[in-house]
Amino acid sequence: MIKLEHIFKWYTVGGSRSFILKDIHLEIDQGDFVSIMGPSGSGKSTLLNVIGLLDEPNEGTYHFMGEDVLAMKQKKRTALFQSHMGYVFQSYHLIDELTVYENIETPLIYKNLSGKERKAIVGDLLDRFGIVGKKDLFPAQLSGGQQQVVGIARALAASPKLLLADEPTGNLNSRQGEEIMQLFKQLNEDGVTIIQVTHSEKNAEYGKRIIHMLDGQLKIGKPEA
Ligand SMILES: Nc1ncnc2c1ncn2[C@@H]1O[C@H](COP(=O)(O)OP(=O)(O)O)[C@@H](O)[C@H]1O
Ligand SMILES: [Mg+2]
Repeated sequence: MIKLEHIFKWYTVGGSRSFILKDIHLEIDQGDFVSIMGPSGSGKSTLLNVIGLLDEPNEGTYHFMGEDVLAMKQKKRTALFQSHMGYVFQSYHLIDELTVYENIETPLIYKNLSGKERKAIVGDLLDRFGIVGKKDLFPAQLSGGQQQVVGIARALAASPKLLLADEPTGNLNSRQGEEIMQLFKQLNEDGVTIIQVTHSEKNAEYGKRIIHMLDGQLKIGKPEA
């Protein structure tokens, strides 16, 4: 599904290169559930952004479902993202001016669905996440944890094949975090490929494998049983 080869990312600071990703090689098959761990600043979010087409490397190749995404025009890349990927951000990234309902509906606007179909999908998600009563509220009227729940519901609205999550439970209490991990596990069993960045060993172990990052490089290992 995902094949990264020779990926480098750097910023030029004061005339010299500061490397964020260094020669990354990574293959992820459909159906996998990968946890990425590593210290702050090691390049985890940057790697996830490259995979999620939100950032471009300076060097290297990236194939997603057999397609060379870095060679694509922006418009095609955006379409690829919208049809196959869901992204859960560390800091929610909800749209302040839209209600909970409208936020979750956003990814569906690009799909060829009737209003009735959209309503059914959003209704299902509101139900599944226990936020039916919040549907007409705005993000600012919710706690951080509730906002993240909305962020996850939104990421799932368009039924993505790949779910990318950057510290998705960082702002949730442990019970909510556990629920999200159970949900990820279920989604993965239903065929959704998941890549999550996490600081929590416990959450990382929900993955089928754990990838450790350090100074922009990967160390690939198996989760301990
Ligand atoms: N625009 C930028 N210019 C320079 N350095 C940056 C920029 N964006 C991110 N970085 C640096 O890249 C490194 C990796 O960042 P990030 O991928 O967010 O790491 P992580 O998610 O593992 O904490 C950090 O040291 C950060 O300071
Ligand atoms: Mg990060």
